[in-house]
Amino acid sequence: MRGTFILSLFSLALSANAVISKSKLTTYVDVLALDNSFGPVKEAYWTGYPHHRRTPFAVSPDGKSAYLAYLDSSETDVHVQKVNPKTFKATGTTVTVTGGKEAGGLVAHNDGFAVLVNEAMPSGTTNAPPSNTPVPALYRYTDGKQTWKTWLGGPGVHDSEGRAASPDMNGDLVYSEKAGLYGAYFVVTDYSGDASGHYGDSIEYVNKNGKLVTIDGATSAWGCSHNTGIAFEAADAAPFASICAEDQGAIWLNTKGQGMMNTGVKISNENTTNGASGEPMGGMSGSYSALARFADTSRYIFAWVSRGAKDVTENEWMGDGYTNVQNRTNGRNVAFSLFSDKYTKVGAQATSKVGAEDGDSQVNWITSGTNDCSNAHVAAFGPVNAVVTWEEISNPTCDFIAMGCRGKFAGTHFQEVNKKGEKVGVSFSSDDIYVAGDMVTFNEGLNTAKICWPYVSMDWDLSQAVGYGGSSSTTKKMSFACLNRL
Ligand SMILES: *[C@@H]1O[C@H](CO)[C@@H](O)[C@H](O)[C@H]1NC(C)=O
Ligand SMILES: *[C@@H]1O[C@H](CO)[C@@H](O)[C@H](O)[C@H]1NC(C)=O
Repeated sequence: MRGTFILSLFSLALSANAVISKSKLTTYVDVLALDNSFGPVKEAYWTGYPHHRRTPFAVSPDGKSAYLAYLDSSETDVHVQKVNPKTFKATGTTVTVTGGKEAGGLVAHNDGFAVLVNEAMPSGTTNAPPSNTPVPALYRYTDGKQTWKTWLGGPGVHDSEGRAASPDMNGDLVYSEKAGLYGAYFVVTDYSGDASGHYGDSIEYVNKNGKLVTIDGATSAWGCSHNTGIAFEAADAAPFASICAEDQGAIWLNTKGQGMMNTGVKISNENTTNGASGEPMGGMSGSYSALARFADTSRYIFAWVSRGAKDVTENEWMGDGYTNVQNRTNGRNVAFSLFSDKYTKVGAQATSKVGAEDGDSQVNWITSGTNDCSNAHVAAFGPVNAVVTWEEISNPTCDFIAMGCRGKFAGTHFQEVNKKGEKVGVSFSSDDIYVAGDMVTFNEGLNTAKICWPYVSMDWDLSQAVGYGGSSSTTKKMSFACLNRL
């Protein structure tokens, strides 16, 4: 009897009928009481438009503990709150990383967590960055106590190639149990060496004991220039799967090479202006849950927003083989791309053919309207299905080329997709749920998995820049939403 029951649930999970819908979205509004207050709005680079300030969220491999990290509303000190993964209520005491300037990524373990922050180096540190500019650091806590801390920039980290700081923590932290490695991919600005004063990105690996390890073909002191978008996901061995949005005209799968060279795979052509390419992975406070691995496979899925590409010209600065494009649309649409493994895109690369009119024929679009789409994220339910989410603005005003837009918020949308690159069912939307932290897959046994994420329950005003009346309130309550397929 029992065997039959399990089998029928299993076939239900695999059947086409099991599709996400609004009725499968469960909310836990204001469920998590925080000990400290949190400012949920972050001003975007260049535009000042409101973004959700990221609250990293992670669940341990045994499913017994969850953690939420958030920046104190004073904008100094990162707090990590243990969360009951069934009720989303607080449990245990808050751990505070004193001096942390942003919570940049979180990994949950059965006995604790690791958190990526940026913070000023202790005064008197030789060769520290000027003006107390924060430097990325990885902390490991075991049973509530700090076990180690490892600097991922500053003096002693690739000194000869140029020392790095991270005034803004934009990037992500992942962990592979098989590789026994943490990987962090983040935006940096160098303060010594050839790239001094320039923005780029860095990939660093740390072993289980907190030792920074330099891995040939994986560690990177300087990869993509002026990076405003990172997507990063663990693999069974280094290099981990990585994607960057650079300031020259492309989004690269750069697992091979870690840079912005055409030794990588060109996922997309994007119009770039003033260092930006349309906040493809969320811009400021983004760069999480943009790349997800299908469970028990080598496959990955990447979601981003794009204005499309036309009129391909040579990029004279980069030289032969590199291109610039014009954007096709005013607002941004949502797209996704599949990879059969961490190095290989399914289907064609984006064109680099100078003179081509069409620069985006390889893109698998989810939306095609005139609304502006932003804040795209993706998470996989299991080996086959994933959900892509984004926010929309109706009748958008896009004042700044290659940046975000403003206008009336028109909901957070959800679309199921599968490993074949197909949309499954129809999208649906919610006006009062947002995605503001990592989308985490909760394995619930043989039959199903659900995907949950944190957000702050609030009015979401995307009509104006933060300084002009956009919400700047703080909160001591966090909400969660979960999406089931069954
Ligand atoms: C991006 O598009 C704008 C016009 O919308 C254009 O002025 C600019 O040159 C384009 N960027 C590149 C790198 O071609
Ligand atoms: C290109 O995008 C900019 C905003 O980045 C917008 O102002 C412009 O109208 C767009 N061009 C087209 C052809 O839609």
